[in-house]
Amino acid sequence: MNDAALGFGIDIGGSGMKAAIVDLSTGELASDRYRIDTPQPATPEAMGEVLCELVAHHQWSGPLGVAFPAVVRRGVVGSAANIDKSWIDVDADALFTEVSGLDVHMLNDADAAGIAEMRFGVGALPDGSPWPGVVMMLTFGTGIGSGLFVDGILVPNTELGHLELDGHDAESKASAKARERDDLSWKEWAPRVERYLRHVEALFSPDLFIVGGGASKKPDKWLPLIDIATPILPAEMANNSGIVGAALAMHDVSA
Ligand code: BGC
Repeated sequence: MNDAALGFGIDIGGSGMKAAIVDLSTGELASDRYRIDTPQPATPEAMGEVLCELVAHHQWSGPLGVAFPAVVRRGVVGSAANIDKSWIDVDADALFTEVSGLDVHMLNDADAAGIAEMRFGVGALPDGSPWPGVVMMLTFGTGIGSGLFVDGILVPNTELGHLELDGHDAESKASAKARERDDLSWKEWAPRVERYLRHVEALFSPDLFIVGGGASKKPDKWLPLIDIATPILPAEMANNSGIVGAALAMHDVSA
């Protein structure tokens, strides 16, 4: 299946690889969302096989985008905080293009989520234009991902989850995984997030924070507990932002 108004996105996480066909004019999924467990060990070769299964399931034959939880510079993976270390320095675009026979473009997962939110979610104004000024997308999941937008233009690979805060890698204290690991209530976790947001706020003076990732599924549990000066909006596109953002990014690259 292939159509100029359709794209294909794959969102790779530590536990699952999810894919769908995306309507690029609305940001909505144009197919089911198909998920396959991330192979263990999650090596580039093993993931390439799963990518081919996802493509085959949807009978997709056009370009596709992949959202990935690491630094990805022009298709080359540059870090591996929560993924298999064998990914470092792999040219993912070249590898996945070779195994699938399709044109593949990979980008950071939080950057992808931000692209989707800025185009079709809370970062888009009613007339469709992006929120002006400096918008910081932050995803709270296994790690903390960041996507920085200046007048709608992405500054990729900001990696602000790894800011050092009180002697710790920030995501090790304030991610959604840290909340579960330390068995914290929302009330106990919120001060950690507030401390983190205040730090990012002091460094970047954003006009808006958009918060996504697993923790954004229940924003009413913790967002009211956060007291900072910058407005914060919960992400709107929930689980699909990585898929949609990856498909949009591929489309923009090949346009
Ligand atoms: C990674 C980022 C990623 C974030 C969310 C961090 O540990 O370094 O690249 O965006 O997790 O998955």
